[in-house]
Amino acid sequence: MKTRRSEIASALATAGESGLSGQRLAEALGVSRVAVAKHVTALVAAGYQIDAVRGEGYRLISLPAGLVPVEVERLVTDSLWVCIEGAAETGSTNEDCKVLARAGAEEGTVVVAARQRAGKGRLGREWTSPEGGAYLSALLRPPCAPSEIAAFAPACALGVAYGLEALGVHPQLKWPNDVQLAGKKIAGILVEMSAETDRVEWVVAGCGVNVRRSERCFQDGVFVNDVVDATPSKVAAAVLDGLARAYREYLAGGFSAMRGAYETRHTLVGADVVIRDMTGVIVASGVVEGVDASARLLVRGPDGPVPVVAGEVTLRS
Ligand code: BTN
Repeated sequence: MKTRRSEIASALATAGESGLSGQRLAEALGVSRVAVAKHVTALVAAGYQIDAVRGEGYRLISLPAGLVPVEVERLVTDSLWVCIEGAAETGSTNEDCKVLARAGAEEGTVVVAARQRAGKGRLGREWTSPEGGAYLSALLRPPCAPSEIAAFAPACALGVAYGLEALGVHPQLKWPNDVQLAGKKIAGILVEMSAETDRVEWVVAGCGVNVRRSERCFQDGVFVNDVVDATPSKVAAAVLDGLARAYREYLAGGFSAMRGAYETRHTLVGADVVIRDMTGVIVASGVVEGVDASARLLVRGPDGPVPVVAGEVTLRS
């Protein structure tokens, strides 16, 4: 759902050099010229560079360099995303999105941030979140049983891959839900949920993407901008569209319908691995054969393939 503000940003982006008068914008969007002026002031505050010439109108000079909710909303195309909110900085977009979920927010609500003070990774780890990344959390309410959610994180990883591919970046997937480029992590996914015994109440799918190098960290990581030039807002919008596509595939046919798409991007097939649980205990080891229809990793040990539901994979040297 587009807000007037993002519609004004879109109209100015489309108009380019020639710009648009306040009157034209007001008529096109069915609002007053005063309202247009207020939205333009808010867009400038958000980081859009807009020239306002008395008697002539508005001309967009440049888009915001950082991640800005209104710019994500302008660029996202899938109608699943009904509300995109956020701030320059927050503790964790997953935590913010969970608050909204508990308060009854609609499926398709998204929280984005340009940086996080307390970004959360899998297995209780920290997710360092400086400016230059895209940090987003999406609220979903899939009509399924809690037991089916183990397959949800790999499905989301595939969605992130779809999104990055649309930008011209072609990542690989490392089970369960790491998104890699050239063997290094380019994006991570943290799926959290609330459920009753037999019904999922909500799922928050959080994703952090390395977009551009910042001074603070990530110096040796891989970044979207190593491959294509894209702002964090553009990356966030593409990832949301990819997540929406994966979500629709998941709802239509479960992970089994996505398995082939996952496997073609899966980097662990044929690798000799060790899988540990979150306390460090080895749960399986052997050569990876792939994933099954429930997104479990199939690891061939001495007694044949063992399906692994969850864990941390390391390569055996
Ligand atoms: C991982 O460990 O690979 C998962 C990292 C997930 C990080 C993202 S950034 C946006 C969202 N908010 C968080 O606090 N975590 C997720």
